[in-house]
Amino acid sequence: KIPVILDCDPGIDDTMMLTLAFARPELDIRLVTTEAGNVSQDKTTYNALSFLTYIKQDVEVARGLDAPMFRTLEVAEEIHGEGGLGNVKWAEPTLQTSERSAVNAMRETLLASDEPVIIVATGPLTNVAALLLAHPEVKPKIKMISWMGGSAVGGNMSTTAEFNAYVDPHAVELVFRSGLPIVMSGLDVTHKAYITLDEMERLSKSGTSFAEKVAEMMKFYTFTQSQTPFHAPNFENQIRVHDVCAVAYLVAPELFQGGDYFVEVELEGRLTAGSTIVDYVGKTGKAHNVKVLHTVNREGFIELFFNAVDTIGKQ
Ligand code: BDR
Ligand code: CA
Repeated sequence: KIPVILDCDPGIDDTMMLTLAFARPELDIRLVTTEAGNVSQDKTTYNALSFLTYIKQDVEVARGLDAPMFRTLEVAEEIHGEGGLGNVKWAEPTLQTSERSAVNAMRETLLASDEPVIIVATGPLTNVAALLLAHPEVKPKIKMISWMGGSAVGGNMSTTAEFNAYVDPHAVELVFRSGLPIVMSGLDVTHKAYITLDEMERLSKSGTSFAEKVAEMMKFYTFTQSQTPFHAPNFENQIRVHDVCAVAYLVAPELFQGGDYFVEVELEGRLTAGSTIVDYVGKTGKAHNVKVLHTVNREGFIELFFNAVDTIGKQ
């Protein structure tokens, strides 16, 4: 089994990432950590507990940092709803928040592991950066960081910056410079990992109440995402499930294509703060630090995701 830690800010697509992760028998999920991002830290923690209670997963959930390293938190309630999970209520949490902080829980989980662990991060990377800054001794225990965030071309929070990178660029910079293997599922690939409304309709009729709720939540997301002006003309028919890619890459890497590049992030920038700058022409001559995914086999991805919804729905 592959040992993993899931660091997230649920978030509609973060819950879909959790769905795929908990559906896959080859993953050994040691810890879930939450952070501020799509909504406040209180809300992301509540949402993780509520969703995991609903899908009956008894896993440690540790609360992370309340705000980005230097910037003021900007949330995405206009996309994910005021509570962070659209208009769907999952369950009154019976799972409790861990007494350990996210950083301590990550540190202790990593040091206690016999084999290196993969960290899946689908938020602004604040917790992972704080971990590496405070406890660099954990590095040999991290096999890879699979992060949803950034983009080689174009943004969604601004014209050039993707949301997670925009929220905490200093954290992203710290992680990019860590020397650890990093796989970046940015907008280049996640915009290709979309689900159409017809496909979502098919999912909602797949026979479980979980699938119905997922489809309801995703329809909320379709509408809000379509209000974002930067995207493809038929955006409202393309529901992006960004965060799912970070787990899908672990269990089905053959669905993805990408390349190794030197990547940096713009920390200030008059127009471009939070943009990830991918040196795809090799101008800097600097060593590659990030594997940047750019293409996905959409049919295969959807099959993987729908099977996960089915598996969790039938549990
Ligand atoms: C990312 O931003 C968040 O709103 C999503 O959860 C995802 O992690 C997409 O840009
Ligand atoms: Ca997220």
